[in-house]
Amino acid sequence: MKLSLYTGDITKMEVDAIVNAANNSLLGGGGVDGAIHRAAGPELLAECRTLHGCPTGQAKATKGYRLPAKYVIHTVGPVWHGGAQGEAQLLADCYRNSLALALELGCRTVAFPAISTGVYHYPPEEAAAIAVSTVRQFLADHPDGPQVIFVCFNAAAQAAYRKVLEQ
Ligand code: AR6
Repeated sequence: MKLSLYTGDITKMEVDAIVNAANNSLLGGGGVDGAIHRAAGPELLAECRTLHGCPTGQAKATKGYRLPAKYVIHTVGPVWHGGAQGEAQLLADCYRNSLALALELGCRTVAFPAISTGVYHYPPEEAAAIAVSTVRQFLADHPDGPQVIFVCFNAAAQAAYRKVLEQ
């Protein structure tokens, strides 16, 4: 099985790439974005400045610098506005585009946080359902795709993923 769950801090993970739930500026912020920048060191922000931002649903990669991960794949999730503004499609795009980039970079292991479920207020169970179905579809289409680890920062997030994975 190429999908797994892990509860803990994504910045500690020894994987080829960790995905960052960034904002359109790619210049850092709070939540997992802040944690990744703090752990990676100032070189990460310096490289992010050269990327000139990122549209919602798209992804861009940098090196991991002081992180154990080789790469950081920065993606920008949608802000939750009630669900009728294309949020589900944009969230699925984040997973698909991040995985496509990981494949291009030759990554064998990729860890994702629960994109958009913090500051951007996406309902955790709906987000977990999209994360799991999008990744499953990508891996079905790309048998050479990486191992994917969904990183839950707390028990509530883990419960949301467990429920979806058990269905
Ligand atoms: N490891 C794993 N997951 C984490 C960590 C961590 N160290 N820290 C938080 N999470 P959020 P968003 C979880 O708010 O909703 C930033 O300011 C967290 O519990 O980080 O996509 C950006 O710059 C939640 O489940 O991202 C943007 O402005 C999940 O990561 C904005 O927040 C995502 O929460 C993006 O908001």
